[in-house]
Amino acid sequence: MDRYCVFGNPIGHSKSPLIHRLFAAQTGEPLSYDALLAPLDDFTGFARAFFAEGLGANVTVPFKEEAFRLADELTARAARAGAVNTLKKLDDGRLLGDNTDGAGLVRDLTVNAGLALAGKRILLLGAGGAVRGVLAPLLAEQPAELVIANRTVAKAEELARAFADLGPLLASGFDWIDAPVDLIVNGTSASLAGELPPIAPSLIRPGHTVCYDIMYAKEPTAFNRWAAEHGAARTLDGLGMLVEQAAEAFFVWRGVRPDSAPVLAELRRLLA
Ligand code: ATR
Repeated sequence: MDRYCVFGNPIGHSKSPLIHRLFAAQTGEPLSYDALLAPLDDFTGFARAFFAEGLGANVTVPFKEEAFRLADELTARAARAGAVNTLKKLDDGRLLGDNTDGAGLVRDLTVNAGLALAGKRILLLGAGGAVRGVLAPLLAEQPAELVIANRTVAKAEELARAFADLGPLLASGFDWIDAPVDLIVNGTSASLAGELPPIAPSLIRPGHTVCYDIMYAKEPTAFNRWAAEHGAARTLDGLGMLVEQAAEAFFVWRGVRPDSAPVLAELRRLLA
């Protein structure tokens, strides 16, 4: 059996083992996949020990930046993200670092939700690691405009500068903007605390604007409840992104793309 895992701390609630075992069963790929609690003070040593035998790993909080530094080689999207969520042992033993989070979000938006992003006005809330990870793949869809709004405006400005070469990017505070946009993606961690970025309801054009929270929970998140109350055409959560980033990682490792739809349906069923 080829060995794969996810590194995190904490790791107990990770859905990655379930997702990848379902992918393996579906595709007939002979692999095992475990959740491993990596020590906070020695991620590198722990990961290297795993890769003495293991072939690939996902990396989650709080190790994505350390995995970025551990990788011997980076894909372009991981280099841009400054973070690695997928490690793959190459034939010569060196580690390739990739980041499939942004591809997962774009695939969930375009394939699963059927949205065309080209020419659209997109508002991205937050300027932390999650947003940095999805900027390049979102800009590759060629939106008309992508605004990054953040509580700490300087961080949004820094990201807008760092990715300016990839497309039409603007930085903003939450209360600087009020004209309707086509898509709002909440990439802040505010939903974790049941909180809401303080943005104007007029950003939603009722019946038109789509709202996406990269978080997910059993109940709709605070952001998605707010969006629905103000007439969003659709509210989507991040469970699809979770499954799609995993499918993309599986493809990086095995060269086989699993069918994500039945796996997403199973996760949705288990969450209910
Ligand atoms: P992640 O890896 O989830 O992106 P992070 O890098 O710590 O985590 O970034 C968290 C993001 O959520 C930041 O944009 C943060 O805003 P600041 O940069 O101003 O700190 C945002 N955030 C967290 N809690 C928030 C809240 N209650 N309201 C609005 N934004 C919040």
